[in-house]
Amino acid sequence: MKNIYLNIFSFNKKILRKCIASLKKGNVVGLPTETVYGLGGNAYSKVAVQKIYNLKKRPKKNPLIVHYLNYKDANKDVIFNRDFYTLYKKFCPGPITFVLKKRNISKIQSLVTAKLNTVAIRFPSHRTTRSVLKKLDFPLAMPSANLSSGISPVNAQDVSDEFKKRIKIIINSGYSKIGIESTVVSLIGKPKILRPGIIEAKTIKKYLKINVLKKNSKIISPGMLKKHYSPGIPVLLNQNNADSNCALVTFGKKYKNKRNYFNLSKKSDLKEAASNLYKTFRKIKKQGFKKICVVKIPNVDAGIAINDRLKRAAN
Ligand code: TXA
Ligand code: MG
Repeated sequence: MKNIYLNIFSFNKKILRKCIASLKKGNVVGLPTETVYGLGGNAYSKVAVQKIYNLKKRPKKNPLIVHYLNYKDANKDVIFNRDFYTLYKKFCPGPITFVLKKRNISKIQSLVTAKLNTVAIRFPSHRTTRSVLKKLDFPLAMPSANLSSGISPVNAQDVSDEFKKRIKIIINSGYSKIGIESTVVSLIGKPKILRPGIIEAKTIKKYLKINVLKKNSKIISPGMLKKHYSPGIPVLLNQNNADSNCALVTFGKKYKNKRNYFNLSKKSDLKEAASNLYKTFRKIKKQGFKKICVVKIPNVDAGIAINDRLKRAAN
């Protein structure tokens, strides 16, 4: 689809200025990150945050991640602990989000945190978004730039397809490298992974002890609601073949090239598969398939995050 809304821009000094001016006025913009594209707005502005929830049709009880350039900026809003410093040193900036206690004096809008006394914070590594953050004196509340319960956008056109002309500026930086959302780790009490991502539990475990959430544990991250990441057509898991009107999402070299077969990674690379996941789902939907069948994806390494998204997509 062509960008008929004329809201997609390449990054340069002029668009950076426009983007900053727009954010300062309380508007929201589409920004690339290394994980997925986000819908960013001033986390200290009620008007901006309300726009984010309205545009996404996001339930008010699902809090947003607040994005900062570095820990010094975040120090105004959250209380750090030793686990935070350990992981920050190791992984930031990068695709990991920390849930920490909010400071009483914080200016973060209560809507951002769904009135919780905790905040999810992240330090994206993407150069474009970092250039934007550098010019602001407020952090960006920035969920994935898709309608609530859908799949995250991985390029500027996806964002434009989601919101049409309702957003005026989307900065284009090609495909997001990682292709799935950041790992969310709660650092309140004993560290827990709330959302698996490309930074894996086993990697984090090298630096600190973490609890793995049990299957039946109470939902402590609202984003863990079962139905999520839905491409808008039925998704069936652990399939081996598919009728011609269904797409088969495959993995590994044993699958042939057929019109309705979409390989996430011919070389069985789970990171590559993660980066192709949402891209492939959107492609399948655009081609008019009525159903998506997915072969079994190994539940190790990045496969854990892929299967987390697939299970919710199939729900
Ligand atoms: O990679 C990412 O994290 C992307 C890019 C744009 O940064 N953002 C993203 O945001 O995925 P969103 O809003 O789509 O997902 C935020 C997740 C949700 O699962 C939400 O419930 C959880 O973070 N979350 C936010 N604040 C929380 C809090 N205080 N406690 C627990 N979970 C929280
Ligand atoms: Mg999201």
